[in-house]
Amino acid sequence: MLIDFRSDTVTKPSAGMLEAMATAKVGDDVFGEDPTINELEQLVASFFGMEAAIFCPSGTMTNQIAIKCHTQPGDEVICDESSHVYQYEGGGIAFNSSASVKLLKGDRGRITAEQVKSSINRDDNHKARTSLVSLENTSNLGGGSCYNFEEIKKIKTVCLQNNLALHLDGARIWNALVAKNETPKQYGEVFNSISVCLSKGLGCPVGSLLVGEKGFIKKARRIRKVFGGGMRQAGFIAAAGIYAIQNNFQRLKVDHLHATQISEALKSKYFIKEILPAETNIIIFEMNDKMTAADFVSKFKEQDILCFEIAPGKVRLILHLDITKKMVEKTIEIISKL
Ligand SMILES: Cc1ncc(COP(=O)(O)O)c(C=O)c1O
Repeated sequence: MLIDFRSDTVTKPSAGMLEAMATAKVGDDVFGEDPTINELEQLVASFFGMEAAIFCPSGTMTNQIAIKCHTQPGDEVICDESSHVYQYEGGGIAFNSSASVKLLKGDRGRITAEQVKSSINRDDNHKARTSLVSLENTSNLGGGSCYNFEEIKKIKTVCLQNNLALHLDGARIWNALVAKNETPKQYGEVFNSISVCLSKGLGCPVGSLLVGEKGFIKKARRIRKVFGGGMRQAGFIAAAGIYAIQNNFQRLKVDHLHATQISEALKSKYFIKEILPAETNIIIFEMNDKMTAADFVSKFKEQDILCFEIAPGKVRLILHLDITKKMVEKTIEIISKL
């Protein structure tokens, strides 16, 4: 039994999902003629109470399209220093949008309205024009931490007062919605654009959507084409998305429970220096000098359990729908013997 905690992107489509994919009605989406993609885009837009959505191959593409649409070359984007848009998108903000970045030191990936306010550049020819704030919820490097929605509202107020757009990298917004008992419409009301991934907690093989106002999505469609993301009969993969939203969303609380159980087992171990609170499906912990992260990873590997060192001395485990209760029990048993 291989137990793969490396990412929630390692899931394989279930029989039900494959059936939905195989029977999907499709057409050429570049012509706007794929009925399944149209259905998915409408479904996700109305889920957030927003006007429109666009289906893309990846969360990197939806984030990068959003940043391109919200900025002009030479503008500045405010985000947390651990943000995926900055750390893991290949320098895409500079490459695609010729924009600079103001990095803030948040609390487990979460920045505050006060921090945003004090990092907006004054209107001065020497300074880059601040035009966008990008938040990540849940925060990946923050260990699946969730924003307090009150803080998001305060950030929105600062954005409105300073004419800034507000983007959400909601690759794992599904986990935040379930964990915090929030509604997607709350998010649709405050963000100018939201990127969501189907290929993480929801278990699809591929796919992300960018959601926003009609005019914004029209612009996004043009940028997607320029980025080479125009797809044809991609209704086969959109069908997986519809299936996932209907079947795999509410079950995320099982992943959260499993994360809490494993985190509890790790907490008191002699090799743990610090473990971040397991708020959703991600566990990140730092090793002390009694065991290196590389040793921990290889001890797990000997037992057919996969994970990796996400940063020097830090290990990340991610729960997902292909991790069963039995696998969690086996993992806890192995941890107890370490
Ligand atoms: C927070 C966050 N945003 C965006 C992405 C990018 O998604 P993709 O791998 O589909 O490009 C990821 C991927 O893991 C992520 O964790």
